Amino acid sequence: MENIISASLLGCNLADLKNEIKKAHDAKVDWLHFDVMDGCFVDNISFGLPVLKSIDKVTDMFLDVHLMIDKPEKYVEKFVDFGGDMVTFHLEATEKADEVINLIRSKGCKVGISIKPDTPAEAVFPFLDKVDMVLVMTVEPGFGGQAFIESTLSKISEIRNEITKRGLKVYLQVDGGINGETVKYVTEAGADVIVSGSYLFGASDMAQAVRSLR
Ligand code: DX5
Ligand code: ZN
Repeated sequence: MENIISASLLGCNLADLKNEIKKAHDAKVDWLHFDVMDGCFVDNISFGLPVLKSIDKVTDMFLDVHLMIDKPEKYVEKFVDFGGDMVTFHLEATEKADEVINLIRSKGCKVGISIKPDTPAEAVFPFLDKVDMVLVMTVEPGFGGQAFIESTLSKISEIRNEITKRGLKVYLQVDGGINGETVKYVTEAGADVIVSGSYLFGASDMAQAVRSLR
């Protein structure tokens, strides 16, 4: 099976967003990954609802929203309304994970649940049959362009094994430090949705970079 490739817009030239989206589309990227940072859950602030709404107007591409925000229960419905096709939140950011899942689902949207590098695989097990995707962060969330953390590989395998054991169809996404080399390790470990920012948008030939991740 081929990997799904999700291009992280955090790595693009934001002053030229419309053309960068077209470039990703033409390079046969599958999804656009939209990183929302609130300055509380992570030590950085990126972009939010009005930008998502504007993007949704200029593309038909699948919008893969990654919320790195505290209390996602307050905002998830808006991220669906404004164009999200999959909304992923962090398990560490809320005490109401079931409620967040239900809120996203009730709007007819796909749901993802994410964990940071130090959160154990077992933390997502109670939610595996309620979500469409698990996102294993392969760097500490907050910034693009960081180095891949190798110790996350065993966690990817553990989650993939549990998904297989239960006979579920759940995407396993990885995000952070993925390039033509590290993609081999994560794919081998069982990931099937690959997020990449700096590697894709920094490539001289994006279509070739997409093929190397595929
Ligand atoms: C980091 C973000 C990532 C980031 C990936 O917190 O969630 O999506 O943009 O960037 P690269 O591919 O450069 O590591
Ligand atoms: Zn991300």
